[in-house]
Amino acid sequence: MTSKLLHISTIGCQMNVYDTNQIAGVLAPLGYTGTDVIESADMVIVNTCTIREKAEQKAFSFLGRLAKIKNANPSLIVAVGGCVAQQEGEAILKRMPHVDLVFGTHAIFRLPEMVRRIESSRCRIVDVRLSDTIEFDGPVAGPLTDGQVSAFVTIMRGCDNYCTYCVVPHVRGREASRHPDRIVEEIRMRVDQGVREVTLLGQNVNSYGNKEGLCSFAELLARVDGIDGLGRIRFTTSHPKDLSGDLIRTFGRLEKLCHHIHLPVQSGDDGTLKRMNRKYTRNAYLEKVARLRVVCPDIAITSDFIVGFPGETDRQFQSTLDLIETVRYEGLFAFMYSDRPNAPAAAFSGKIAEPVKKERLQALLDLQKRITWEKHQAMVGQTRQVLVEGPSRGLASDDTDIAAPQIRWAGRSSSNHIIHFAVPDALLERKELLTGSFADIMIKGAHAHSLWGRLIHGPMSATLEKGETTIAA
Ligand code: SAH
Ligand code: SF4
Ligand code: F3S
Repeated sequence: MTSKLLHISTIGCQMNVYDTNQIAGVLAPLGYTGTDVIESADMVIVNTCTIREKAEQKAFSFLGRLAKIKNANPSLIVAVGGCVAQQEGEAILKRMPHVDLVFGTHAIFRLPEMVRRIESSRCRIVDVRLSDTIEFDGPVAGPLTDGQVSAFVTIMRGCDNYCTYCVVPHVRGREASRHPDRIVEEIRMRVDQGVREVTLLGQNVNSYGNKEGLCSFAELLARVDGIDGLGRIRFTTSHPKDLSGDLIRTFGRLEKLCHHIHLPVQSGDDGTLKRMNRKYTRNAYLEKVARLRVVCPDIAITSDFIVGFPGETDRQFQSTLDLIETVRYEGLFAFMYSDRPNAPAAAFSGKIAEPVKKERLQALLDLQKRITWEKHQAMVGQTRQVLVEGPSRGLASDDTDIAAPQIRWAGRSSSNHIIHFAVPDALLERKELLTGSFADIMIKGAHAHSLWGRLIHGPMSATLEKGETTIAA
């Protein structure tokens, strides 16, 4: 079999990152191996996102640039996958003559056959069929990057919630869950490959297994917790309306479950939440936050917000700011509302002008910046266990005044904070001991975007079961 080079460019959420890995996995038997260099690739795949207009534009502008590369190399196969592919289908082929293949979000396991057909007859193909059930339940996990200690595992696909602003139910299809045995099998395989942490993915993990009568999400977590060699479990995303008492209690019960929950609220105003079709009130949300903090007092809570939803008044936006002050999140993602095809809110009246959206976004981010800074300051002097991810990729640009000497490594705490730290030279020569190990870091300094500290204990052995080594740092 001839060896061929494949470049995959990924735009969008963690699910697309997972799908990209699956795509690499299903195409490996055809002889494709990954390359970062587009110009030398035999096939380029763009895995696209359409959650906001900007994401869609990004996909089309990247595809536009590929036309030139294909001109120089006419045998190049150009494929478009993901959510824009699902949304636009055939229209992409019409608009872009250099595109050979458009495959939707449910077509990944049909890729090998389609790519073979294109290789042999240079035909153009569109496959955007959606199915209500999972036809192929893996595991087909693609290659890991060198020293990768954390991996995504999709446990369910699609979404049945139909929030009025959201395109996801239209491009990812109906909610469907994978079988728990397949999920556990895939995680075991990842652990054997060196992974220590998994993040279980779904648009609404709380409703995992409901439709199919499989186990509950809390039961799935308990099974995953029992996997030998796995150190940590994370999950995302949790829809507040379905966050059950059982799942809340899980935070106090499972040893490997990280003390972090991403609980997107979108708005702090009941009227806006209703028009968004979120199906919970501000009070119900705050009650769940309070219960989480009773069960797990140090739990880190993060969220997503949309500013400038159609009809959002200044007073309603103030309620959102007020909710942020009340919850005091560890961090958040905030987005300006964007009209999406098929999403009902696109037809709502009371659209908010762009400058107003920008102003609200800035006010929200400024508020969170202060809260994050205060929370970071409060962590100074504390010791946190991190899973060491590898050499530090550098600090955020506005934290360059940091006074810490020789910051060279970074790890993630259970609360999902990245903590930078220096390590003794002797250990630097034995990288394999550090990456993928657990180490205790005493936090010495905090900035708006970063934390740094001193290695005080660890690393434990790279394989967890070998026990600990104490290091004089
Ligand atoms: N399933 C997840 C979110 C998936 S989309 C959940 O329910 O929380 C990720 C985030 O994008 C959403 O939480 C929302 O904040 C944002 N988003 C979705 N549609 C959007 C739109 N039309 N305009 C702006 N932001 C949007
Ligand atoms: Fe979109 Fe709502 Fe589904 Fe999340 S729960 S993916 S925001 S429709
Ligand atoms: Fe984007 Fe699709 Fe994810 S629209 S956010 S890549 S589900």
